This record gives sequence, C-alpha cells and structure tokens, in this order.
Amino acid sequence: MRIPILAGNWKMNKTAAEAVALVNTMKDELLAVKSVERVLCPPFLAVPDVSHLVAGTEIKVGAQDLYWEKSGAFTGEVAPNMVAEFCQYVIIGHSERREYFSETDACVNKKIKAALAVGLIPIVCVGESLSLRQEGRTESWIIGQVKAALDGLTAEQVAGLVIAYEPIWAIGTGLAATADEAERVCGQVVRKTIADVCGDAVAQAIRVQYGGSVKASNALELMGKPDIDGALVGGASLNASEFVSIVKSSAQAKGLS
Ligand code: PGA
Repeated sequence: MRIPILAGNWKMNKTAAEAVALVNTMKDELLAVKSVERVLCPPFLAVPDVSHLVAGTEIKVGAQDLYWEKSGAFTGEVAPNMVAEFCQYVIIGHSERREYFSETDACVNKKIKAALAVGLIPIVCVGESLSLRQEGRTESWIIGQVKAALDGLTAEQVAGLVIAYEPIWAIGTGLAATADEAERVCGQVVRKTIADVCGDAVAQAIRVQYGGSVKASNALELMGKPDIDGALVGGASLNASEFVSIVKSSAQAKGLS
C-alpha cells in the first residue's frame, strides 16, 4: 500500500523566526498522526532551523526548489547537496516557478535528475492552466509534462518520485478541483501515463498527490479517492490547525489511524 504524503508548501512566507514558531505550534499534533508521511517545505532561509527542530522525528523537511549544477558561479542559486544537507524532499517544477521564473520541462527534468543524484525525493508538480482546461487540453498537457519530467529516468527512480497534480486554476483560488475531477486526472492521466512509460508496477508504486486549495473542509473527500495519495498544501499549511486537520483527515480517509 502507498503511504499517503501530506506536504506543506509555505511558498515565500515566514521568516526563520516565524517558521520556528509555526512548527512549534503544530509539531506534537503532527507527530501524533503516524500513519501518513508529513513534510514541511519552508523558504530556504528557514530550512536549517526547521530541520533542527524536527530532527530525529518522523516529520520531514523539503525545499521548494534547487539548481541542477553541483557548485560554482550561479549567483543566488542553491545546489543539490546544500539542499540535501537539511532536506529529504524537494518540490520541483511548481507552476509558480514555471510561470514567474520561466522554468521549462527541460529544466524540470534536469532538476529531478540532480535531486535524485544526492538522494533527495522530488515532488514533481504538473498541472494545466484555466485556458488549457477550457480548450479541453488538460489530458494532453499533463501527459506531456509527466513524460518530459520522467525522460531518462530508470523505472526504479520513477517509482520513488512523488507527482503533485496541481491544476493552476485551483491554486490559491479557494476553488479546488472536485474530488472526482482530481481523482480522474491523478489516476487516469498521471498514473496511466506512468504505466504506459514504465509499466504497471511502477505506476502502482508511485505516489500522486493532489494540490490546489486543499483545506480542512475538503480534505476528507479528496483524500478518500483511491488514486490520490496525499496533498501538496499551500495557503492552508500556514495555519497550524488547518494543516493538522488536513493531515488527520487524510489518515482517516485512507482508513489509517
Ligand atoms: P494552495 O497552493 O493550497 O494555496 O492552493 C497549493 C500549491 O501551490 O502547492
């Protein structure tokens, strides 16, 4: 059985001091829900403090990005081994990176390979815009993004990835995809593409999250779907009681304690 993974993407929110305060408010309650994987993804400058705070516990830390080169003259960038010093996970190809920082599918693929090379687990984001959706191109767009992300990876590497299906129209809008819609894309598009490329065993092993306006009030229904293995949570992960409630609902929805 796939272990559900609930990750909080804090985006560009929280100073290091604020991050420590937020973790302290929810740490004990998060630790109590042992059946699902819990990951916190603070901004880079808060990563070391958060990582020290949860060291030795089951709470994992993720970065929100990395650069693919090992070191050198890349002002402002963070190398894979620098991320791996503090993190177990790294979000790659978030739609905000693709949109505001011009990240391409090729860039995303290089970052995935660089992350895997240092033992990080990539959380690879894919998702369609509102206009693509309205044009009925969701499926072909997601298939293209998934195939490009996986290019050149071994089946074993693919099985260990996390894919986050995040429709752009649902991110930060309060308008989540319906559970049926999210389940259809996570299962019949993302997982099916992985089956086509890498075979059924890999498709059954890989975890596929849903992201986009996940909150305490819709988590139970979304996480009750068999092809949705957790969530990438933005806004609601900045609120301790909301995030704890989403984590608890996910465990409950999967019949775990
Ligand atoms: P949201 O963001 O939960 O605020 O919609 C999700 C994400 O961008 O990962």
